[in-house]
Amino acid sequence: LSEPVLAGSKVLITAGGTREPLDPVRFLGNRSSGRQGVALAQAARDAGADVTLIATHLEVPAPHGVKLVHASSALELREAVFENAPGQDVLIMNAAVADFRPARIENSKIKKRDEHSAPVIELVRNPDILAELVSARSQNPDLPEFIVGFAAETGDEQGSVLEYGQAKLKRKGCEMLVVNEVGATLTFGQETNSIHVLFADHAEAVQASGSKLEVARVVIEQISNAAKSHAA
Ligand code: C5P
Repeated sequence: LSEPVLAGSKVLITAGGTREPLDPVRFLGNRSSGRQGVALAQAARDAGADVTLIATHLEVPAPHGVKLVHASSALELREAVFENAPGQDVLIMNAAVADFRPARIENSKIKKRDEHSAPVIELVRNPDILAELVSARSQNPDLPEFIVGFAAETGDEQGSVLEYGQAKLKRKGCEMLVVNEVGATLTFGQETNSIHVLFADHAEAVQASGSKLEVARVVIEQISNAAKSHAA
């Protein structure tokens, strides 16, 4: 029997969707179910890795045999990622992180003031956790050597899903980007997925589709191959 492909590796995975609080009972959220991230955790565990899963509001149970950490908002997720990333070999940022959060969290429930008016909610940008981690790496050699981003893209007249993916890979500065095409009925909350894996150090992309676990196995195998040649 051959050695599992990630035996001895430490892999940190974020999964699910963040919730950005508005008041004590309301939040802004997204449709991420966490299925793909959970499948990645399962595939990494099956490949022999020591897995830490940072879960933001999973709709599916976390797999057995992984260390589980919980976070809710983007700011909490950022804290959990920075706390858990040192000493890891691989970081897979699969969580759907809200780009914006309400500028203020009200201490009490936002009320209907009169019959007709509605509040205007001011939003501010959230930090880009992935990009922050990539840049923090130059100061801290303990941070993961191999960082993987995910991108939900739609193609349009200006460019294909792959072109947008390549541009995002450069912008984020990570080693690998997994791109999936999204739409109202594609990917989010679905059982199956169709992806392209893009690499920072060469132009050839790898395509895979199937169940989220099948896709996760392909991603983990690609990480294992690429991380080995990256370290060499
Ligand atoms: O820029 P975009 O949101 O498409 O990038 C997606 C990738 O960046 C995912 O890997 C996601 O986890 C990560 N991300 C992040 N912090 C944000 C937004 C996205 O780490 N605020």
